[in-house]
Amino acid sequence: MAEGMAQADAAALKRKIRELARERDAVIISHYYCVPDVHDVADFVGDSLGLSQEAQRSPQKVVVFCGVHFMAETASILCPDKTVLLANLDAGCPMADMITPEALAKRKEELPGVPVLTYVNSSAAVKALSDICCTSANVTAVMRSLPGERILMTPDRNLALRTQALVPDKEILLWPGFCPTHHRVNLAEVKALKEEHPDALVLAHPECQPKILAEADVIGSTSGIIKACLESDRKEFVILTEEGVTYPLKKQRPDKVFLGPATPMICPNMKKNSLADVLKALETLTPVIKVPEEIRAPALRAVERMMAVPRDWRTLAGIPGRLGACCIIHNCIATALLVVDGLLLACHIHPRTLPQNPLCNRLLGWHHGQSRLAPRVPAPCPCVSRPAPL
Ligand code: 13P
Ligand code: SF4
Repeated sequence: MAEGMAQADAAALKRKIRELARERDAVIISHYYCVPDVHDVADFVGDSLGLSQEAQRSPQKVVVFCGVHFMAETASILCPDKTVLLANLDAGCPMADMITPEALAKRKEELPGVPVLTYVNSSAAVKALSDICCTSANVTAVMRSLPGERILMTPDRNLALRTQALVPDKEILLWPGFCPTHHRVNLAEVKALKEEHPDALVLAHPECQPKILAEADVIGSTSGIIKACLESDRKEFVILTEEGVTYPLKKQRPDKVFLGPATPMICPNMKKNSLADVLKALETLTPVIKVPEEIRAPALRAVERMMAVPRDWRTLAGIPGRLGACCIIHNCIATALLVVDGLLLACHIHPRTLPQNPLCNRLLGWHHGQSRLAPRVPAPCPCVSRPAPL
């Protein structure tokens, strides 16, 4: 409940916010890390990229963003015709502030020809100087899609180290940035929790240090962690990301136990967004976050390149008992995969596009029985001579 506010007052304030949002033709979106009160008034609660995509999809003209500055900028990059408001202008991200466009420009001069992959937790100006963006949910697929062996990855060092472990054929050059909330997780506290709750599933965000990730059963983005908890039949979960994700989890599964380290993981910036801020933003239609066009256009290119990379179908294929379908539209290639219980059962690769993309050729290699994931896929592939309509 809002601090110092009686329950009835908070309920009245939430009703007022919802009415005003309708009058203003506004959608309210909140990151999982915001306070529960803000979740309650939001039309959509999600992870950093999901929120910007929701801002783009929603029909409303005004977007009230409850999150941190770079997230509202991403919404402005994706929907320049909408009025994007950041509920609390002081909500910044210390990790995003650990890289400036000037410092990146200087590093690029030292590394001519080396592609730059930038985590979405970065300013629009830094994205504009990057070749492509990634989120914690798609980073391995994006990394694998890049040409060349050396890649500069900014700004999160921990995410880069994790990616390096998953994509060993690339040499990932690090940027010394980190998220204070995730970086300071204490190993002794995690080990103590595991000892006290030996049956608990341990889930960690890849912004944690490698020594913490080594203790985890599941490593994923905020939405990945929530999904894994909801799909698990375990009773107890150790959550190694900002504590805000436990609010939707406890609401959906009150019968389960969600635990965190003794030193709580709190992002003070996310917590700055309050109900009072949301109301004020709707009343005044400020503060507006508008990325200037000369920055927006190159930043959009980096974000769109990321969106054109498919989700990592190998990750998808690795989930037992699930049905997965994945479409790839990357320049002129078009590929569809059907994955059931970790086996690649069908694969349609448009033959016209085959020579043009190494990813497509690699998929074809797997499809023809070289894949450890799909040993039962019959070869030769009928799709190559008879393309299926896509
Ligand atoms: P997600 O992209 O997983 O939502 O993470 C955002 C973030 O700020 C993590 O610290
Ligand atoms: Fe930035 Fe970390 Fe807060 Fe996420 S949790 S917004 S990376 S400081």
